[in-house]
Amino acid sequence: MPSAEAGCSTPASLPTDEYRFSARDRHVFANSAWQWCSAGVIYAALFGAAFWYHLARANPVSWFTANKCLAIAAVISVGIALAIGPGSRLTGQGLAGLLPWRRSLGIVGAVAVIPHVVLSLFAFPEKFPWDWYAARWLSITLAGLAIVVLAVLVVYSWPRGFRQLGPHLWLRLHKLSWLALGLALGHILLLGKMPGWLKWWQTFDKPLPPGALMTTAVLVCVLALKVVDMVAGAATTCRHHSS
Ligand code: HEM
Repeated sequence: MPSAEAGCSTPASLPTDEYRFSARDRHVFANSAWQWCSAGVIYAALFGAAFWYHLARANPVSWFTANKCLAIAAVISVGIALAIGPGSRLTGQGLAGLLPWRRSLGIVGAVAVIPHVVLSLFAFPEKFPWDWYAARWLSITLAGLAIVVLAVLVVYSWPRGFRQLGPHLWLRLHKLSWLALGLALGHILLLGKMPGWLKWWQTFDKPLPPGALMTTAVLVCVLALKVVDMVAGAATTCRHHSS
């Protein structure tokens, strides 16, 4: 979740990334009020869309449904934030104007996952008792690791964090945002929802696919975009070396 604050002394020696874009061009360390507000609006719109989706799937209006939608909106916000990087490179910098939103939307998504964690752990003891968690320890461990990685990224996404780490380490650290997305994906996949997804596929008993399945599809698309971007970046590097 990168971002360059007006007052931030960004070193002149920022490295170029593997695609030869200067970090100075691509990363910011503060966001304008407009970038924060619009990131909040995007998160709220995702939450609203997820809620509408769950009502269309006959889920009740409840905190239980809200908890799913909080999680979905948070992880898709992080996913969109991450997609902007590869998206801007693959479109020949066409989306470069969106780069500052990587930071604001990423931070909003990372912080917004906190209510999901608190609600999941404490608000539904009858649905999610401790032995439910014990049976899904791997999913919850991956979720815990995702939170740790997201927290570290948020802490170091401010000018002070950048100065403490220096440009090379800072850029490397921020690549871990992809690991956080992968861990979140693992959390969803290992929750034990797959039999329900299969049942939906066999019966189509609801007009729309399960929300977690749709969220998984979005995250897989974002990760696929990153893979395409890496392959395109490697091809560009090869061309530079051979020319
Ligand atoms: C230790 C921390 C966490 C705990 C205890 C936790 C707990 C849970 C639980 C109990 C569910 C099932 C909800 C349901 O079926 O209604 C769930 C689903 C989910 N979680 Fe987490 N979670 C944690 C962290 C995270 C993180 C870090 C993310 C994303 C960045 C995340 C994203 C999701 C998503 C997208 C779902 C699927 C929602 C659905 O059911 O449609 N969770 N989590």
